[in-house]
Amino acid sequence: MKWTTKKLRSLKIENSTKKLSMLTCYDYQTACALDQSDVDLILVGDSLGNVILGYETTCSVTIQEMITFGAAVKRGAKNKFTIIDMPFGTYANSRIALENAIPLFQKTGAEALKLEGSGQNIISSIEALVNTGIPVVGHIGLTPQFFHQQGGYFTHGKTKNEKDALLEQAKKIQEAGASLLVLECVTSEVAEEITRQLKIPTIGIGSGQKTNGQVLVINDLLGSGPTDPPSFCRPKNNFYQQKLEAIKDFIQEINTNLTSSDPKKDKYENIYN
Ligand code: KIV
Repeated sequence: MKWTTKKLRSLKIENSTKKLSMLTCYDYQTACALDQSDVDLILVGDSLGNVILGYETTCSVTIQEMITFGAAVKRGAKNKFTIIDMPFGTYANSRIALENAIPLFQKTGAEALKLEGSGQNIISSIEALVNTGIPVVGHIGLTPQFFHQQGGYFTHGKTKNEKDALLEQAKKIQEAGASLLVLECVTSEVAEEITRQLKIPTIGIGSGQKTNGQVLVINDLLGSGPTDPPSFCRPKNNFYQQKLEAIKDFIQEINTNLTSSDPKKDKYENIYN
């Protein structure tokens, strides 16, 4: 079943206990695997700036990069509701937001776009996109595009003031017309309260178990990177180690001429001759 914004919005109205699963994705082949799986939602996150492009922060990601990776994912994940991040600076006000969102939406075939934050210009950008027919996902708490403004990566909502502020932000985003809200690194108490008060589903990351769904960066789940994933993610694999071992085996095979006795050699010769 492919999710639609209508189905997402009716989830809570119908008091469904369904927990939404969301994973990030940045490439065609992983998108094919996700398309064959039961995952509910795919996010082409601007975290690709960190895990694919090696940038220090997501602030360096451009609209053209999101179009390129977003379109690659959509070519592999035709049957999944796919959300694409609008990168830093591309929704500084509602006019700029529309100028960037329309080509991002049209050229990738995404089902929704995600915007971080809840300031006045962001709220009017969400309204402008929704009024144009582009479904929107909000994102509050730890918002990596605000890394320099927030002063680093940490858990949000620890004090009463922060908790009240997050609740207010969540409601404003819902009122602006968003279909879904990502809560990143907020306390589980705040995530639970926001989830209880909102009519739209919440998706948590590092925010406890009481949200309507969970999202992870797929590279963290698979252990694809050279560094440990965040503490809230328990990797299911160690792809980085497997990559190193495959590279080592390949080099060893070349050095011992083992590849020439590869049973698949004939097959390759047929392809290349
Ligand atoms: O960019 C991203 O991958 C995200 C998730 C961490 C929610 O925004």
